Amino acid sequence: MKVGFLHSIIRKEEKLLLQEFRRRDGVELVKIDDRQQFFDLQRNDFELDVIVERCVNHSRAVHAMKIFSDHGVPTINAPEVAEICGSKFLTTQALIKAGVATPRCFLAFTPESALEAMDQLGYPCVIKPTTGSWGRLISKVNDRDAAEAILEHKQILGSYHHSIFYIQEYMEKKGKDIRSFVVGDQCIAAIYRHSDHWITNTARGGSTSNCPVNKELHEISVRAANACGGGVVAIDVFETDQGYSINEVNYTMEFRNSIEVTGVNIPGKIVDYVLEVARK
Ligand SMILES: Nc1ncnc2c1ncn2[C@@H]1O[C@H](COP(=O)(O)OP(=O)(O)O)[C@@H](O)[C@H]1O
Ligand SMILES: [Mg+2]
Repeated sequence: MKVGFLHSIIRKEEKLLLQEFRRRDGVELVKIDDRQQFFDLQRNDFELDVIVERCVNHSRAVHAMKIFSDHGVPTINAPEVAEICGSKFLTTQALIKAGVATPRCFLAFTPESALEAMDQLGYPCVIKPTTGSWGRLISKVNDRDAAEAILEHKQILGSYHHSIFYIQEYMEKKGKDIRSFVVGDQCIAAIYRHSDHWITNTARGGSTSNCPVNKELHEISVRAANACGGGVVAIDVFETDQGYSINEVNYTMEFRNSIEVTGVNIPGKIVDYVLEVARK
């Protein structure tokens, strides 16, 4: 079996996945570096059974997976999943369409209408670029003065990515939220991410502890994953008095801080799933 491993820099996650693939019998790994690879769009000579996508860069991931997938090579994840999960707007749309609980969200196209939207949603609220990760450039807006300042900065200094205003209700989360991991139709593990800061990403210093996967968490995690097309995804979940609420779905998931704390061999589960898809 030939497994294409699409990557850029090899981080801890990629190392763990590569190790896991190398442990399996009958697997030939073909490493594809997105910094060196180019594609002849008219030719289909990949001879691969499956592609595992581990790019750092979202557009490279989406483009490359579209090419592989159009040539009949299954990719994990599918290009459509990457496209949806790569955009907080498309993710929110997918969740709403599937009836999965998600924070209230407004979208606006001008600073003026964005200010009106924030006034209506109430303060504090959160404004985010629709594309991005690791908690970068997301802002908690505590009052109207802050809203005006942020919007002016976005208008004058922001790039194209800041011309769509994605505004979310602020979720009171008592110092922690949940990151759950879905592989196929199973929620295989979850962690709490604790932080004194309102942004809990572990990339921003949040600490972790095991979060037992109860029936409700399992169900909403799998539903959120499927709403975005399914596969191997990591889900940001808020715990509220009304139940769980899904913040976003991530498609090239990071899991280095979650193996020990959950006791689950996350890369092992991913590799099992990839090989299962390849066999089909
Ligand atoms: N609406 C919100 N209410 C409360 N906390 C939020 C909200 N949105 C984001 N956060 C916090 O910020 C973190 C990063 O936001 P997120 O939307 O997941 O963006 P990123 O793609 O950068 O991870 C979340 O994990 C959460 O801790
Ligand atoms: Mg997140």
